[in-house]
Amino acid sequence: MAKNPLKITDTILRDAHQSQAATRMRIEDMLPACEMLDNMGYWSLECWGGATFDSCMRFLNEDPWERLRKLKKAMPKTKLQMLLRGQNILGYKHYADDVVDKFVEKSIGNGIDVIRIFDALNDTRNMRQAMESCKKYGGICEAAISYTVSPVHNEEYFVKLSKQLEEMGADVICIKDMANLLLPYDAYSLVKKLKENVKVPIHLHTHNTTGTGDMVNLMAAQAGVDIVDCALSPLANGTAQPATEALVATLKGTDRDTGLDLTKLSDAAAHFRKVAGKLKEQGSLDPKVLNVDTNTLLYQVPGGMLSNLISQLKQANAEDKYYDVLAEIPRVREDFGYPPLVTPTSQIVGTQAVLNVLSGERYKMVTKESKGLLRGEYGQLPAPVNEEVRKKAIGDDEIITCRPADNIAPELDKYREETKDVAKCEEDVLSYALFPQVASKFFDVRDGRVKAEEPAAPTVKKDTNEPKVIYVQDLLK
Ligand code: CO
Repeated sequence: MAKNPLKITDTILRDAHQSQAATRMRIEDMLPACEMLDNMGYWSLECWGGATFDSCMRFLNEDPWERLRKLKKAMPKTKLQMLLRGQNILGYKHYADDVVDKFVEKSIGNGIDVIRIFDALNDTRNMRQAMESCKKYGGICEAAISYTVSPVHNEEYFVKLSKQLEEMGADVICIKDMANLLLPYDAYSLVKKLKENVKVPIHLHTHNTTGTGDMVNLMAAQAGVDIVDCALSPLANGTAQPATEALVATLKGTDRDTGLDLTKLSDAAAHFRKVAGKLKEQGSLDPKVLNVDTNTLLYQVPGGMLSNLISQLKQANAEDKYYDVLAEIPRVREDFGYPPLVTPTSQIVGTQAVLNVLSGERYKMVTKESKGLLRGEYGQLPAPVNEEVRKKAIGDDEIITCRPADNIAPELDKYREETKDVAKCEEDVLSYALFPQVASKFFDVRDGRVKAEEPAAPTVKKDTNEPKVIYVQDLLK
């Protein structure tokens, strides 16, 4: 046994297929490997939340709650982990506290052990209810800092934020590097600082989009990080996490030896290679996601946002403006107080930058979402905004400075009332609260009122949890 073994969370059942294969892995693809996974010795298995909830109902005709219960039954020994977007739960908007509380209660009740909770703006007020509920129902509360790079997002900022989350009751602090912007030496330095300043374990989550993921994990391990996220090789790398086997082999015999068995990992990987093959065949997995995307490093814009940008410009017949828009993105981000670029802020900033370039005058046109962000509807922005821009966008509108959810009255009873004829349990009410149309359609199929359509192969390879695409050409009309 190593002196200080590095613990591993495997994301093969959630982020790996969300990032590479549009979240299309089915429970049948998971169950045959569950016993192997359960015996691996992982710290946890990430298997629920994120975009899987929506995708289950929308594309796979699967009840996400039923999936969770099956996973728990098949993997009783290993902690099951989920990703939760604070006050947004797994949806697109802020929910009332009673809905957040009930969702967390039911997640833990149906089998979740660890909840990773984050907010796109790092506004801890948007995380508080979810964190409190997680602790109340006996879950392990993993609070995440959304990592980004900007003049305000320095080590001091992240240390302060982590200490605050620890005070709020976090059992683990996660560095959530969703865009793979955290470079290896910065990871080393940040982990060292966090280890000096926080008592709870540090868990690192990165991707391999820019090709630095393995080095980031290794440097973090050197700096003493407690847990890192990896994915079994068949769905690892590219836009997903670095491969578990590679890190396990690298650390073998060192004082950070993970203790995981490469032969066992290889057996489980053999199963998921078949699954990955199937996903490729049905068109859910485009090999392009495996390319190293260095534009992210140059422009500090997440990979997914760049492809979205290209398609928006194509629609507007303005592909020649690509580099103008790339240059405009950091300016908009500065005007808006440097939000981290993650759903939904990546969409908001990206679309506004496109409009600023294509309309010929900055902020001549401002989207509803940009106005909302500037009005404080999403929470507090990390840095002061450009007041001139704010004035131009929202005039003398009142600015929200309280916790946004303080303005939302309890709404669980309303959802119960709306679903009283179709919901069979509280879990159904929650599915409906998050995705009203998708859930209603799913209940109809599940309960035999409507025949299931053949699940179509995905035509758009994107995170199903993205808010709906804003069509620039419509806005320019
Ligand atoms: Co991720």
